[in-house]
Amino acid sequence: MKGVVFTEFMDMVEEVFSDDVLDEIIEKADLPNDGAYTTVGTYDHQEIVRLVVALSETSNMPLPDLLATFGKHLLGQFVKGYPQFFDEAKDAFDFLSNIDSYIHVEVLKLYPDAELPKFYHEQHSDKHLSMYYQSSRHFEDLAVGLIEGTLAHFNTEGTVSKSEAQWQGEDAIKFDIHLN
Ligand code: HEM
Repeated sequence: MKGVVFTEFMDMVEEVFSDDVLDEIIEKADLPNDGAYTTVGTYDHQEIVRLVVALSETSNMPLPDLLATFGKHLLGQFVKGYPQFFDEAKDAFDFLSNIDSYIHVEVLKLYPDAELPKFYHEQHSDKHLSMYYQSSRHFEDLAVGLIEGTLAHFNTEGTVSKSEAQWQGEDAIKFDIHLN
């Protein structure tokens, strides 16, 4: 996992919780490098899992809620760092439908060692989009937050639900996004 994900996670912990909570979870997670990450480095994704689990224990907040909160924060940072991707999209569904075929493709050019998930989509109507997610890292709760952050960015109200599904014979997580 790219270091940028770690540095953004730590920023979120400082912002939403405190410096003390950050110190506490770094200690608790017992990380190989004591929590020193550079944005361009690449680290074992289990380390971010350990940090999120430690934060869940310290804050008594459920893991899925924390990952979704982090996803929303991360989306806000993507808006600042990569405004062109958002400006080019005509609405939230247009943006979300282009993650796999365009946005993550561009990300891979910037960070050739990025480990990105696969997304497939089916648009049922202008108010209902299904996205199928496949990743060995199982960050579906992070994806929920990224999708919710996307809806908020495009000033669109709606709900995101998650279920287990199959895409072309392979296990996948399905997100159903319904706009109000
Ligand atoms: C401009 C927008 C976006 C940018 C620049 C971006 C970039 C990235 C980067 C740099 C990573 C880390 C890769 C690694 O650590 O090796 C990542 C991972 C990920 N991205 Fe995106 N992303 C964007 C939008 C989204 C959106 C809207 C979603 C949700 C639908 C999404 C879903 C994910 C997930 C779930 C991961 C974690 C890795 C995994 O699940 O396997 N991304 N993305």
